[in-house]
Amino acid sequence: MISETLRAQFQNLYGREPRVFSAPGRVNLIGEHTDYNDGFVLPMAIDRRTFVAVSPRDDRIIRARSTAEAGGIEFEIGREYPGDGDCGRYVYGVVECLRQDEFDLRGADLLIASEVPIGAGLSSSAALEISVGFALLNISEQPVELPIDLVDLALAAQRAEHHYAGTQSGIMDQYIACLGIKSHALLIDCRSLEYRAVPIDLEHARVVVCNSMIKHDLAAGEYNQRRAECEEGVRRLAANLPRIQALRDVGIDDFDLYAGSLPEIIRRRCNHVITENARTLAAVEALEGGDLARFGKLMYASHESLRDDYEVSSPELDLLVAIASRCDGVFGARMTGGGFGGCTVNLVAADFVDKFITTISREYETETGLRPDCYVCQASAGVREEH
Ligand code: GLA
Repeated sequence: MISETLRAQFQNLYGREPRVFSAPGRVNLIGEHTDYNDGFVLPMAIDRRTFVAVSPRDDRIIRARSTAEAGGIEFEIGREYPGDGDCGRYVYGVVECLRQDEFDLRGADLLIASEVPIGAGLSSSAALEISVGFALLNISEQPVELPIDLVDLALAAQRAEHHYAGTQSGIMDQYIACLGIKSHALLIDCRSLEYRAVPIDLEHARVVVCNSMIKHDLAAGEYNQRRAECEEGVRRLAANLPRIQALRDVGIDDFDLYAGSLPEIIRRRCNHVITENARTLAAVEALEGGDLARFGKLMYASHESLRDDYEVSSPELDLLVAIASRCDGVFGARMTGGGFGGCTVNLVAADFVDKFITTISREYETETGLRPDCYVCQASAGVREEH
């Protein structure tokens, strides 16, 4: 539907027939703040997407507008970014990073519409970067060996995030926006960049996302600080474990032996990452074995570790998890994404979903005055053209 409306809006605005592409937001089931430590993550692409209508131009100008904001941006490929605004920065960033990778882009008019809520921890920025990058690559005059190597696109978009959004993010969000698979979560090895598809089309359970309605606007500084703390942990642990490259390489037993030598904060940050990697692998085993109770326990443990050791939760996220833990039919709940606001992810028995959403909405609103946006997510496909 949204792609048809967007096609018509594009026609009105630019007077030409566009092609339409889309990329999904994501929810991470478990494996949080592990990706930039070369570790494991288990996200799934969700059925909320960012759509880009695009039509090539004869020059090297990129003109982009969003249906959500007035105005727009315009720049020439290869020239300095003239404007401001989040949407523009991401578009410019991905164009610039693809150009630096020697992709031969051409000028284009773009119109963007998104169903992925912004600042909710569902990766609206990756959905934007990937949909725009994929659209521009697909209309380029000498298509670069299509289908494009999607991992290369994900890596270019991750660099855009580093250089133009200021977050030293890992690869998870861009990767799943590119490579998501319908009815599956992906266990991604963030070192080798390989994945294993894990079926998540569960007969008796649903993945429910609850938005705390607190945006994680100012979290980039905290995020980058966590990353630096992990790197410091690796440097210090390497004194005793010289072969380690990243926290991924540190086993729980080795960590227990040497953790005492670390400053308190660094020790707690490392403890989260090292145990979270183990939880993620255990969670995949549980899911594949149909053991949802165990999967749910690992979700709760992940949340506690993020709250206490990694300190990236928030009172609202803790409240949502606490309410969920008292509801019938809930296997597990945890914050998802970078933290400091945004969403929780809940695994709920199918028969209890309606009651769960009613209860959590009511109790959260009573405590905070905010009405959470709760929805059941379907695991969806990654970036694609809409026909
Ligand atoms: C953000 C980043 C990801 C990842 C998560 C935390 O979403 O973009 O790379 O680090 O936070 O797991």
